[in-house]
Amino acid sequence: MNPVIADEAAILKAADLLRQGRLVAFPTETVYGLGADAKNPEAVKRIFAAKGRPVDHPLIVHIPDVATFEDWAIEIPEIAWKLAKHFWPGPLTIVLKKHPDVPMEVTGGQNTVALRVPNHPVALSVLQAFGSGIAAPSANRFCRISPTQASHVEEELGDKVDMILDGGACQVGLESTIVDLSGERPRLLRPGQISKSDIEQFLQVKLELPENNEQIHAPGLMEVHYAPETQTMLCTTVQLQKKLQENTIQKKYKIGVLAYSKNISQQYGVQVLIMPKSGSDYAHNLYSSLRALDNDDIDIILVEQPPQTEEWQAVNDRLKKSTKVMFSDKNELSTG
Ligand code: TXA
Ligand code: MG
Repeated sequence: MNPVIADEAAILKAADLLRQGRLVAFPTETVYGLGADAKNPEAVKRIFAAKGRPVDHPLIVHIPDVATFEDWAIEIPEIAWKLAKHFWPGPLTIVLKKHPDVPMEVTGGQNTVALRVPNHPVALSVLQAFGSGIAAPSANRFCRISPTQASHVEEELGDKVDMILDGGACQVGLESTIVDLSGERPRLLRPGQISKSDIEQFLQVKLELPENNEQIHAPGLMEVHYAPETQTMLCTTVQLQKKLQENTIQKKYKIGVLAYSKNISQQYGVQVLIMPKSGSDYAHNLYSSLRALDNDDIDIILVEQPPQTEEWQAVNDRLKKSTKVMFSDKNELSTG
């Protein structure tokens, strides 16, 4: 399926396809989503089939504005209204008790629903033209890197999607922050561009973190997620230099490097992508850079650890989930 420029006609067609229960991929400010009519269980099932995603992994429902909040959730606490009014449209997803009309297919059988108003003109136009909620996970195959450009969606899903709207590169580049307000105490389920302390300061309440045994219900929390197919390792600058030197002598592997420091040179004959210095620019580039290395003829991707301050929390979370092996000085590079 070739991406189409998201002009007015394309947006009307997208809304029509959604009404017919078809799948439409569209840009948001975070990543591209694979959308279906959130009130149509058959359409929603198509999302799971296209992605190869287990049916108990719930989807985010994208809504046109905060005014439609109560069509999707019940017992909405005051802090949810506050957060929504402040951060929407924006890269924040709020989990609440679901409205009885929300199909169980959307929520993976749970009685909570994840909601967000995306901050992207194309996403908002499609939502307005469609006039209801659109269930949309990231438009990638299960456990793969999320798409941040229309061409990535084409690469991931090919003809499994009925239309791909091209709205250029996603500005944020990482998935939304998820806050669960359905229980006794607010919890951060997934870090994103809106940070834990942004929310804590705004609400004047502490966010808790989820327990390990809940991971199955939140695939974004799974250990290996957002992963390239090529073996990917996270390492310190010193470890990286050492491995590159060793490999220059042994010439065992074709290595690709996602570098943070500027002084990782091309001298080792490996492919080096130098990443931006700010957390938000790094986030914007991360998935497309990993995808580019993954598509190259490379045996191993080495990622140089960026800073670990709060500005980098979402990036570090995704890096951890992209790397199947944590680097140790003892372990040999191996593609096993
Ligand atoms: O930025 C984003 O959030 C993108 C764009 C397309 O909006 N969407 C996205 O969707 O990342 P997905 O399906 O790749 O990730 C959705 C996350 C999962 O980690 C899922 O477990 C969580 O949202 N989620 C959805 N419904 C939930 C619920 N009822 N309770 C807890 N977590 C939920
Ligand atoms: Mg995803």
